[in-house]
Amino acid sequence: MHFLIFLFFFIKYNFGDFYKNPHENRSLIPKGCKTCHKNHNSISKEYLKGDEEPNLCLRCHGSLKDKEKALGEGIISPISNPKSVLQSFLLPFNHPLQNGCSPCHSIHRKNDEFFEFEKCKNCHSNNPLYQKPLSFHPIFGLNEGKSNLSCTSCHTSEYQNSNFGVHGSNFKGIIFSNYEKEDGFYEDNSYNFCYTCHNKEKIFFKSSFPYHREHIEKYGTSCYTCHDSHGSINLPFLLTFEDEKRNDRIFQTKNGEKKFISLGKGKGICYLSCHNFEHNGLSYGDENFSNLKRELELKKESLQNKKREILKKP
Ligand code: HEC
Ligand code: HEC
Ligand code: HEC
Ligand code: HEC
Ligand code: HEC
Ligand code: HEC
Ligand code: HEC
Repeated sequence: MHFLIFLFFFIKYNFGDFYKNPHENRSLIPKGCKTCHKNHNSISKEYLKGDEEPNLCLRCHGSLKDKEKALGEGIISPISNPKSVLQSFLLPFNHPLQNGCSPCHSIHRKNDEFFEFEKCKNCHSNNPLYQKPLSFHPIFGLNEGKSNLSCTSCHTSEYQNSNFGVHGSNFKGIIFSNYEKEDGFYEDNSYNFCYTCHNKEKIFFKSSFPYHREHIEKYGTSCYTCHDSHGSINLPFLLTFEDEKRNDRIFQTKNGEKKFISLGKGKGICYLSCHNFEHNGLSYGDENFSNLKRELELKKESLQNKKREILKKP
C-alpha cells in the first residue's frame, strides 16, 4: 500500500508535469511558484514578485532580450519556449492592457476550462453576439452554426512575424486584414478581410442579393453599412437596416419608414433612404411579388384618386 502511494507521487511528480498548465510545470519553469509569488503561504494577486502585470508576464513573453534574461536568471528552462507577444501589442491597433493580461488569460486554468468568448463578455457584453441575435457569425460554444469561429478567428494580427491572439494588428478593429467601414472609399482590396472567408466572385456574381456588385463597386457602399460584423438582433443575414448604430447612413423614407422584409433567402423588400435615394419598397428576387406590389400600389392610387374626387364633389 505504502509502495503504491509512493509510486503515485513518484509518477505525478516526475511525469505529471507533462499534462500540467505550463506555468505549473517545473520542467519549464524550474523555480516553480516562487517565480511569480512572493509568499507561498498566502498566495494571492497582491503577492506577485517583481512587477505587476503585464510586466510580470513580459519577463518571459516579452522581447527576445527579455527571454534571454529570463534564461540567465533561471526562471525558465532551456527547453521552454514561451511565445513573445510584445511585438503584437506594439502594432498600431492594440488591445488595452490597463488590467494586465489576466482578464483574458487565467494563468492557472486547466486546459479548455474556458472559451475565450466568456472572458470577452465581461467587458464587451453589448456585442450583438451575446444578445440572442437572429443571425450571426457562429462562435464555437456560443452560437452553434454550420461552421464554428472564435473571436480570434477575426480578431488577431496577420500571422507573419507575430502571434495568435487578440493583442494587436495593423488594421483597425484588431482584425487580420483590410476592412473599410466608411462608404465612398472603394478600392479592390477594401474588403479583403471578408473575402478571406467569403469568395468575392460569388458575392459579386452568384449571390442571393443580386445588387451586391452595384452597391459595392458603383456606389462604394461598405459591407459594414448593410451587414454587422457580429450579428443582427432582428434581421437575417446579419443585416443592419434597422440598426440605430447606422442612423448616420441609413435613413427613414419620406413616409417615416425604415425596415427590411425578408421573404426567405434571395428575396426581400427595402423601405429606407440611402445615398439620397429612396427605397420605398424596392424589392429583389421575387418577380411575382414585385408585380403584385405594383398592382396593389396602383389600386391604392386609384382608390385615393376616387376618394379625392368624391371629397371634391359639393
Ligand atoms: C508565471 C507566473 C506564476 C507562477 C509560476 C505561479 N503563479 Fe499563481 N498566480 C499568478 C498570477 C498572475 C495570478 C493572478 C491570477 C488572476 O488574477 O487571474 C496567480 C494567482 C494564484 C492564486 C490565487 C487564486 C487564483 O487562482 O486566482 C493561487 C492560489 C496561486 N496563484 C497558486 C500558485 C501555485 C501553488 C503555484 C506553483 C505551483 C503558482 N501559483 C505559480 C502567476 C503565477
Ligand atoms: C517565468 C516565465 C513566465 C511568466 C512570468 C509567464 N509565462 Fe506564460 N508561459 C511560460 C512558458 C514556459 C510557457 C510554455 C511555453 C512552452 O510550451 O514551452 C508559457 C505559456 C503561456 C501561454 C500559452 C499557453 C499554452 O498552453 O500554450 C499563455 C497564453 C501564457 N503563457 C500567458 C501568460 C500570462 C498571461 C502571464 C502573466 C500573468 C504569463 N504567461 C507569465 C512562461 C512564463
Ligand atoms: C477587462 C476588460 C476587457 C476584456 C476582458 C476584453 N476587452 Fe476588449 N477592450 C476593452 C477595452 C477597455 C477596449 C478599448 C475600448 C475602446 O477603445 O473603445 C477594448 C477594445 C477591444 C477591441 C478593439 C475595439 C476597436 O474599436 O478597435 C476589440 C476588437 C476587442 N476589445 C476584443 C476583445 C476580445 C475578442 C476579447 C476576449 C478575448 C476582449 N476584447 C476582452 C476591454 C476588455
Ligand atoms: C467574422 C469576424 C468576427 C468575429 C468572429 C468577431 N468579430 Fe468583433 N469585429 C469584427 C470586425 C470586422 C470589427 C470592426 C468593424 C465593426 O466595428 O463592426 C469588429 C469589431 C469588434 C469590436 C469593436 C467594435 C464594437 O462593436 O465595440 C469589439 C469589442 C469586438 N469586435 C469584439 C468581438 C468579440 C468579443 C467577439 C467574439 C465573441 C468577436 N468580436 C467576434 C469581426 C469579428
Ligand atoms: C483582450 C484579451 C487578451 C489580452 C489582454 C491578452 N491576450 Fe493573449 N491571447 C488572447 C487570445 C484570445 C489568444 C488566443 C487563444 C487561443 O485561441 O488559443 C491569446 C494568445 C496568447 C498567447 C499564445 C500565442 C500563440 O501564438 O499561440 C500568448 C503567449 C499570450 N496570449 C500571452 C499574453 C500576454 C503575455 C498578455 C499580456 C501582455 C496577453 N496575452 C494579453 C487574448 C488576450
Ligand atoms: C474567419 C472567417 C470569416 C470572416 C473573416 C467573415 N466571415 Fe462571414 N461567415 C463566416 C462563416 C463561417 C459564416 C457561417 C456560414 C454558415 O453558417 O453557413 C458566415 C456567415 C456570414 C453571413 C450570413 C450568410 C448566410 O447565408 O446566412 C454574412 C452576411 C456574412 N458572413 C458576412 C460577412 C462580412 C460582411 C464579413 C466582413 C466584415 C465577413 N462575413 C467576414 C466566416 C467569416
Ligand atoms: C447594399 C447593402 C449590401 C451591401 C453593401 C453588402 N451586402 Fe451582403 N447582402 C445584402 C443583402 C440584402 C443580403 C441578403 C440576400 C438574401 O435575401 O438572401 C446579403 C447577403 C450576403 C451574404 C449571404 C448570402 C450570399 O450571397 O452568400 C454574404 C456572405 C454577404 N452578403 C456578404 C457581403 C460582403 C462581404 C459585402 C461587402 C464586400 C456585402 N455583403 C455588402 C446586402 C448588402
